[in-house]
Amino acid sequence: MPEHPLSRRTFLALSGTGVAALVVAACTPGGGAIVSTTTSMLAAESTTPSTVPPGGPVDVEIALRAFPDRVEIRPGSTTDVWRYAAEVIQGDPDTVEPIAGSYLGPTFRFQRGQRVRLVFDNEIPDESIVHWHGLDVPEDMDGHPRFAVPEGGRYVYEFTVDNRAGTYWYHPHPHGRTGPQVYAGMAGLILISDDEEDALTLPRGEFDIPLVIQDRTFNGDELVYLPNGMMDRMIGFLGDEILVNGHLNAEFPVATRSYRLRVLNGSNSRIYKLAWSDGTPLTILTTDGGLLETPVTRPYVTLGPAERVDLWADFASDEIGRTRTLVSLPFTAPQMGGMMGGTAALPLGAGFDVASFPIDSAADSSDPLPDRLSNPGFAAVDEAVNIDSPRVVTLAMAQGTWTLNGRTFQMTNVAEEEIVTHGTTEIWEFHNTGGGMGGGMMGGGMGGGLAHPMHMHGQQFQILDRSIDNDGRAAWETVSGGYVDDGWKDTVLVMPGEKVRVLRRFTTFPGLFLYHCHILEHEDMGMMRNFRIDTT
Ligand code: C2O
Ligand code: CU
Ligand code: CU
Repeated sequence: MPEHPLSRRTFLALSGTGVAALVVAACTPGGGAIVSTTTSMLAAESTTPSTVPPGGPVDVEIALRAFPDRVEIRPGSTTDVWRYAAEVIQGDPDTVEPIAGSYLGPTFRFQRGQRVRLVFDNEIPDESIVHWHGLDVPEDMDGHPRFAVPEGGRYVYEFTVDNRAGTYWYHPHPHGRTGPQVYAGMAGLILISDDEEDALTLPRGEFDIPLVIQDRTFNGDELVYLPNGMMDRMIGFLGDEILVNGHLNAEFPVATRSYRLRVLNGSNSRIYKLAWSDGTPLTILTTDGGLLETPVTRPYVTLGPAERVDLWADFASDEIGRTRTLVSLPFTAPQMGGMMGGTAALPLGAGFDVASFPIDSAADSSDPLPDRLSNPGFAAVDEAVNIDSPRVVTLAMAQGTWTLNGRTFQMTNVAEEEIVTHGTTEIWEFHNTGGGMGGGMMGGGMGGGLAHPMHMHGQQFQILDRSIDNDGRAAWETVSGGYVDDGWKDTVLVMPGEKVRVLRRFTTFPGLFLYHCHILEHEDMGMMRNFRIDTT
């Protein structure tokens, strides 16, 4: 059933299925941190106190709202969207930088160590809550769906920015509604800088360009979400057209010098295999959790939903008048009963142009690529308290829905095996070896499965290693040369047949946090769980 992204039909359509109970539970207001528009600016009590009580002095205060709007996406017409806008109430006015002419939310520029307050007003006709993807913040500041506020509601965030310099983002996180809300336009970038980065000769200002890549389908001027109903939910929504920063056929005129290109895959489900069309290797500066130790190169970069890389692009020896094109190369898409690509006009694994860079002027200076970027401060594997029996999370379909260890989302519940001790370091293994077909509506015996970009809230993790089974190997080899596993990560793509081992510290904030697949349709269906960090 085709649906308009700005309606609640997605939600209602689920109410006749086996996941209805979970979805309904998700809409029960949870938690005590909702602050109504008429009460104080203080975030109210939560189950675990933040380290710094809210309401004190902050370095910057921002009013952030989500609201329905119409913006120009297709030339000469406007499209209904839901979007964020923000305004600096106190502090450096450059903290908030709108992306011109885009439905995307403004970019937030934070300095590590800053204390920030964000007052979120929800003016869309749906419940919502904002999550700061990749940031390590207390549980009641993290945008967990139990804190979702209704239309007209307000939520006050206060936290200290304590992430490494790099590219992060923010988006809604109400349970069952994240996919349609992000699709309708609700997402923006968070760029963090720190002293380590400030000391480097990296391109700044106009030479530092964000590239938020998303795919969308239009019916006339309006966005269409899930045109194939349940099929699109099972596979993940794939749009027909590619947008960068909210624009079709995106073009970024550049000068003959180096640039920093901050790439976010802000798509609901599409995986990109990014490369320069002329075969120049990509130079990578950052992964999800900030600057790498040293720049690395890849022939192409595989970027699953929510993953980020900052690229260093040098146009210094390009002739003026030439155009370089960033493309997504074809790859063998995971198949689920032959459906993958069967329903999308632009199938997963198809090749296409992403953005073009016409070289239009001579630069009088450039920034050289630094040899060394940062000290990542990685943990050692023998710090892991579960080194002999790592936690395993199996990604599989069961009873017609996507599950983590056979379970779907419950608003506040955790299983015994989802409780972690505060102060420890652990190994988690994501196993995408359950196949796509654990029974249920897709039938059996078709093999395969889908790729799942697995995300953990809270502290960033390191990727220890990966392995691939024989059935999955051929498809895997068309993307694995583009994995960038050298830096801190919060989201990792796990291909069918693949096992990924990650190492993570649980040493900052205790409490209830999420881990989930970042294919937003999978997340909305319940391929998401809580884990709880308990202090002893
Ligand atoms: Cu980007 Cu739990 O999300
Ligand atoms: Cu997140
Ligand atoms: Cu998934």
